[in-house]
Amino acid sequence: MDEIQLHKAAEVLRRSKYTIAFTGAGISVESGIPPFRGKNGIWNKYDPATLELGFFYENPLESWNVIKQLFYDFFGNAESNTAHQVLAEMEEKGLLKSVITQNIDNLHQQAGSKVVHEFHGNSQKMVCLQCRTYYIPVDIDLDNLPPRCAKCDGLIKPDFIFFGEGIPPDAYQKSVEAASLAEVVVVIGSTGEVMPAAQIPYHAKQHGATIIEVNPELSNFTNSVTDIFLEGKATEIMGKLKDELFKV
Ligand code: APR
Repeated sequence: MDEIQLHKAAEVLRRSKYTIAFTGAGISVESGIPPFRGKNGIWNKYDPATLELGFFYENPLESWNVIKQLFYDFFGNAESNTAHQVLAEMEEKGLLKSVITQNIDNLHQQAGSKVVHEFHGNSQKMVCLQCRTYYIPVDIDLDNLPPRCAKCDGLIKPDFIFFGEGIPPDAYQKSVEAASLAEVVVVIGSTGEVMPAAQIPYHAKQHGATIIEVNPELSNFTNSVTDIFLEGKATEIMGKLKDELFKV
């Protein structure tokens, strides 16, 4: 990891009056949650079509079998890691205004971040598609799929965004607003493959923001909007950035 780039990033972050973070699956890899793309990516083993909204309506049982395995059996008890925790500490010290995340794993909140805009929803909420009653996973019997609503027997869907589903308007609007105001965006662990989420760093750049990127590999952002590329794993880089930022 390039120490000069790290010092530069810390300097930029100290001076910034409005910093946000934009995170993808990579920030949770060291919490045991594999990424969607790249080596051992989820989409190498599972067909993303099973998480298309139309497919879910047509084949709720098949879709729920994948959902249960992916988001509840395997990753249900993942813990936040150093990278999530450093972002929460930066927020607490007034060095970060908000996190915009593509992740549905709730790990930013678990680490203590207060302002988290969830572009793709959250796996810790479920909703009945018929009467809109909300549930939390513990209230649902995931051994009896597809889960049905206790009130109206309607089909229950996790409250995260499926392919082909609109982005939650509130999260979208607050994310675009934050990106317009940001002086610095710390982009952590995203290929930048999925729109409209991946527009956020571009939108911030168009409004004059400096983009700091943390990733062990190049992404769609690296050679297009990234100003400071910190090559490495999220926990390693964010741990070092914290030492730089908080040193007296
Ligand atoms: N630290 C930081 N970044 C990492 C690490 C790590 N330890 N390990 C992997 N990465 C990087 C990879 O290099 C890659 O750039 O994380 C990124 C993971 O990319 P994706 O799996 O495409 O994740 P993301 O960009 O968040 O995907 C966006 O795609 O399937 C949809 O809804 C899903 O929100 C997801 C969206």
